[in-house]
This record gives sequence, C-alpha cells and structure tokens, in this order.
Amino acid sequence: MYASTLLSPVKLPKISTRFSNMAANNNITSSSSPPPATSQPTSLPLREIPGSYGLPLLGPLADRLNYSWFQGSEKFFKKRIDKNQSTVFRTNVPPSFPIFTANPNVVAVLDCKSFAHLFDMELVEKKNILVGDWMPSTKFTGDRRVCAYLDTSEPQHEQIKNFALDTLKRSSTIWVPTLTTLLDKMWDTIDSQLPSGPVSYLVPIQKFIFAFCCQCIAGVDPANSPDIAEKGYIRMDRWLGLQILPTVPINSFQPLVEIFLHSFPYPYFLVSRDYNKLYEFLEKEGKEVISRGQTEFKLTKEDTIHNLLFILGFNAFGGFTILFPSLLSALASDKTGIQEKLCKQVREKAGSESGLSLRSIQEMDLVQSFVYETLRLNPPVPLQYGRARKDFELSSHDSIFKIKKGELLCGYQPLVMRDPKVFDEPETFVPDRFTGEKGKELLTYLYWSNGPQSGLPSGSNKQCAGKDFVTLTASLFLAHLFLRYDSVTITGSSFSAVEKPKSKP
Ligand code: HEM
Repeated sequence: MYASTLLSPVKLPKISTRFSNMAANNNITSSSSPPPATSQPTSLPLREIPGSYGLPLLGPLADRLNYSWFQGSEKFFKKRIDKNQSTVFRTNVPPSFPIFTANPNVVAVLDCKSFAHLFDMELVEKKNILVGDWMPSTKFTGDRRVCAYLDTSEPQHEQIKNFALDTLKRSSTIWVPTLTTLLDKMWDTIDSQLPSGPVSYLVPIQKFIFAFCCQCIAGVDPANSPDIAEKGYIRMDRWLGLQILPTVPINSFQPLVEIFLHSFPYPYFLVSRDYNKLYEFLEKEGKEVISRGQTEFKLTKEDTIHNLLFILGFNAFGGFTILFPSLLSALASDKTGIQEKLCKQVREKAGSESGLSLRSIQEMDLVQSFVYETLRLNPPVPLQYGRARKDFELSSHDSIFKIKKGELLCGYQPLVMRDPKVFDEPETFVPDRFTGEKGKELLTYLYWSNGPQSGLPSGSNKQCAGKDFVTLTASLFLAHLFLRYDSVTITGSSFSAVEKPKSKP
C-alpha cells in the first residue's frame, strides 16, 4: 500500500503541499510557516510518557555510555522504542556527567507525527538548543548568540533570518555559473590524478564547497586571499569541529573518546587564530554584503560578520560537507543502474541546447528525488530539539502524551525518516520515491531542514534558510556530474574510475 493512503487515518499535521520554487522564481517568501502540528481534534488514547531518567548521575552516565559507545545513537533509540512500545518516551542524551552542566533529560519524539511538533513555534521554544540543552561557548561566535541559537520570539531572529534569505536570493543568478566553474576545476584535477590510482574526494569536495559557499552566500572569492584560498576550509573545519565534538557520537577508540573528547567542552583559544583569519577575510572582501546587513537589516557590522560566518561555515559548509559524500555513497551502493537513468534524464533535459540552469534542473524529477531520498536516509543534522513553551498534548500515531512547560523534546531524524506509517519500504533507498503526484505529497514528511520540504523558511519559524538552495545545489552537482561523465566508480571515499561520453573525448 502506498504511504499516502496510510497517512489519512492517522491525521498527520496538514501542511501546505506547495513546493516552493524559490530559485527559479527568484522569489523568496518569508511569511508562511507550517500550520500547528496539533491543531486537529483526535480520538487517540491518553498515555503516560513511558521510560525514565534513572538514578541521579548514574542514569545519565549509563545512557551516555550506551549512546556514544556500547550501542551507538541509532540502536540506542531503537532499543528504547522496543522496550517502551512507544515512539515517545523519556531518556537522557549526552553531553552530561561529569563536567557538563547540561540537563540530559529529554522526551524523545521518534515518528513523523510526534516529531512535527518541533516545527510548531507556538508549542516549542528554540532558544540556545541547537545541539541540545548544552550550548558551545559564545566565544566561538564573537561573544554573541547567532541566528541558529535565537528563538522566534527574539526580534533579532527575524532580522538575521531575513538577511540570510536575502543573501541567497540575491546570489541566485550566479549559482549555476559559479558551481559549473568550480566543479569543472575540481573534476579536471581529479581526472589528471586518476591515471596514478584512486583519488580521494574528501579534500577536493571540501575545497569546492568552501569556495562555492563563500561566493554564493557572502559574495567573496577565497582566491583573493592566498591564506584563505589554501587553508580557508581547514580553518573552518577546526572551528566547526571544536564546537560540535562533545555531542558527536564516535564508536571507535573508546573509552578514550569518552574520556578525552566527550567529557568537557573545548576552549575557544584553540581555534581563535583560525576564526580571526576568517573574520578578517570577510571584513575585507565582503564590504557589499556587510553594508547591506547594516543598512537594510539594521544589524551592527559585527553582528553581520559573525552571523555570516556562522551561516557560511556552520550551516552551509558543515551541512554540504556531510551531504555531498552521502550523495556519492548513495551512487556507489546502488545496484539498480541508477547512474544510467540519471545520466539519461540529465542529458535529455540539459543537453547541448538548453544547458544546465535553474529551469532545466526543475524538470529533472529523478535527479531531485535522488537528492530527497539521500536526505531522507542520511539527514545531515540528525538531532533536533524544542523546549515546551507551555503545557500541551503531543500525539504520536497511536497515543497522546501530556508535555509539561520547560520539558525538552528531542527528535532523532534518521529513525523518524524511516517511519513505516509514512514511508513504504522505509529502510530501502528508492531513488524515484519522490517523483509523481504521490512523491510530491510525500515531501510534506521530508524533514531534513527542520521543517517539511513543502514548507517555507521564514522569520517566524526555524526552518533552514538554505532549504531550497541546498536541494537545488545538490541536484545541480549530480546533473553536472552526469553531463560530464557516463558513470563514475566510487570505492569508499575515492573515485577509482570515471567514464567520459564516447562522443566527447
Ligand atoms: C546540506 C546543507 C544544510 C543542512 C543539512 C542544513 C540544515 C539545517 C537545519 C537542520 C537547521 C535547523 C537547526 C535547528 O534549529 O534545529 C538549519 C538552520 C539554519 N540554516 Fe541550514 N542547512 C544547510 C545549509 C544551509 C545553507 C546553505 C544556509 C544558507 C543560508 C543555511 C542557513 C541556515 C540558517 C540561517 C538556519 C537558522 C534558521 C533559524 O534560526 O530560523 N543552511 N539548517
């Protein structure tokens, strides 16, 4: 049975199915947000939230070790769904004992219906909870709380969010030419190295992402600074890595990881040189975008630069650094001849006459669906949090639970995106899942951007400002690849062979 037929009886939140075609229309809307997740009456039974936080200190410690070491995050949540016979339950998540002051107690929401409450800004607050109850020091962001840590009730959130949306809108005319130029350069280098053996794509892709984001988000070219051209992406990696390290589960090298990487937050001074170099670069090269932040969005110069750096580095560079390798590994693990099908569609829609454009990419439904399916099974930001603004009733597919004001909800997307009540064959990568009318409907339940793929990021919600930019860029990346090559052979994180079209030597 197709998923949508299963959806109606369980009354999932009804969210607009309009697919925002932001880039093609060059028109970013910043007004609409998904309707509240709990607005419909329901006849589901009321149930006490199962699960427990365990004994003080020992409960959080045991959960932390299970989460990061013995079970890993996915098994950790799966086991508790089975044990509690519920996709909503109480548990602890790291970081916690002994040095972190964070409260590890959360209510896990692990199906599409309960997870959607995280998008309802009337129900949840998003202040300082980007990575959970614990927040990295604001020293990493110039002694201020940047957009991603602001709640929608804070006036600066809307100002900065609109600024972020505006920077993307303005650059939409250069996305395709910038991407094409940078990717041609990347592939030329890879082509030249392939005769000597497999070529790792990790560094070339990071360099590409860094330059692409700099140009499209901040209008600055790393090539103008020898230091940033050479080391910009590494400086970004170090600054980013140090902020998130305490919350990233790492199963290998235990217990050393638990003791040395997950037990205390890292001090900013370790990466202050990197951050200062990036700041100086943006200050010098990004005069136009900075002045727009000041004049049109009434931000201070410092607020503009620190927020731009966070959006460019943490949101965009960080997100793409996970997404692109996921796309390539989805190509590598396919056994259904997907490369041939993608190649055929790309050449039909963007062959020599029409070329690669924001318009032609809109016609490539299989390419876009491949990107959506990659985001479904590998959401780059796996955890999302929301703190209850008030007492309210939260529904899963089968029960209703009473949530108390102040409780922290925690959604783990890799499991939510495999909700069997929403997605047929939820564990299988189905490349064309999101094509056709039914596929379009299903976009309402694709949540990688902290909101439905059919929703619109705005100043009044917390959906990713780059939602459409990300999926279009990923689709363009694939389309560019299949205009250039008939197929690529990928082993691990390396290209081992590429096949060029016979007619174009
Ligand atoms: C693959 C790439 C990306 C992924 C996976 C991603 C994912 C996300 C997610 C999950 C959130 C919400 C976090 C939360 O509050 O729980 C978010 C927020 C945000 N993202 Fe993205 N993002 C990506 C790229 C971008 C890009 C290119 C931009 C450029 C404008 C961007 C700008 C933002 C901003 C400004 C926010 C904060 C939204 C708010 O506070 O209302 N992101 N992103």
